[in-house]
Amino acid sequence: MKRFKILGTGTALPERVLTNRELEQMVDTSDEWIVERTGIRERRIADEHTSSATLGAAALRAACAQAQLEPTELDAIVVATSTADTLFPSTACWLQHELDVRGMPAFDVAAGCTGFLYALEVAASMIVAGPCKRVAVVGAEVMSKVVDWTDRTTCVLFGDGSGAMIIEACTQDTGLLASNWGADGSLAPILYQPAGGSRMPATEQTVADKMHSVKMKGSAVFRHAVRAMTQAAVAAVEAAGLSADDIDLLIPHQANFRIMEACRVRLGVPPERMFTIVDRYGNMSAATIPVAIHEAREAGRMAPGSTVALAAFGTGLTWGGAILRV
Ligand code: ACO
Repeated sequence: MKRFKILGTGTALPERVLTNRELEQMVDTSDEWIVERTGIRERRIADEHTSSATLGAAALRAACAQAQLEPTELDAIVVATSTADTLFPSTACWLQHELDVRGMPAFDVAAGCTGFLYALEVAASMIVAGPCKRVAVVGAEVMSKVVDWTDRTTCVLFGDGSGAMIIEACTQDTGLLASNWGADGSLAPILYQPAGGSRMPATEQTVADKMHSVKMKGSAVFRHAVRAMTQAAVAAVEAAGLSADDIDLLIPHQANFRIMEACRVRLGVPPERMFTIVDRYGNMSAATIPVAIHEAREAGRMAPGSTVALAAFGTGLTWGGAILRV
């Protein structure tokens, strides 16, 4: 077990709401198709001046306020993102700059939509191993800036937002009871942003060919996602020595309601115990789980002593399952 307690959580969600009806005016799609195939009704879209670090800093400020501490009191900042402010330095360093704090280590974790679970695992390990007492874990994404708004197969799926969680060393039996995480890099080509890195540096041609946008083989991602996320969740529950009856709340990555349902059914968790925000925010990649955790806490769904199953999949392909005792 990796012991820690949650000191505070917070979110930052852009004000601008983009509805399915508005998307009908932009691409050949319909509200009915999007709701039936994904469960998404609307999503938030950041303005041109807002980056992942801007949203992440706002979410972390809110989490610090709830925890009643100053950002300067953090021992480390770990940011999970697929939409980094820049290739270098890390979004975590830009976030420090936004908050005007310095000194503590700050770095990014890149694991797509599984990023928050990877970052939480890393942060918890840093606490257990000793170098840090109090760590901020932030998921922050501005997916709208890497989406091709003429591609109906991807643009209807994503949204922008950030969620932050501050964890602190403790001696009680709270924290990660068990987890299961992994990756299969042979599946990298089914979901990626081809250009802009050292593999395909930016040129006029890459811009003309829209190679800086999300490219996704949707049905392949769907198939692998259901398998990987479900297996990781089941493995984490088993490793914790628990059964479905012990899970008070299931928070899966919120990419598509049908994928979430497949995971829930396989775990044997009843519908009322799955927490859902995908209808209001779409897929915010690494931000979906921390935003859902914050909203679940605010709704009184994560009372002290409760057991929460977290599960995710993402580009890579990466996957993770974690059992959180709060
Ligand atoms: N509106 C209307 N029709 C559409 C749309 C749209 N927005 N998008 C696709 N279609 C059409 C397709 O062109 C296809 O038409 P055709 O039969 O004439 O060829 C038809 O709908 C069915 O397409 P499918 O791809 O088979 O639809 P499916 O039911 O698989 O749903 C979806 C597509 C929603 C993309 C699904 O495959 C999915 O959710 N995949 C996983 C995506 C995902 O989770 N990505 C995030 C990964 S996490 C990360 O790290 C970022």
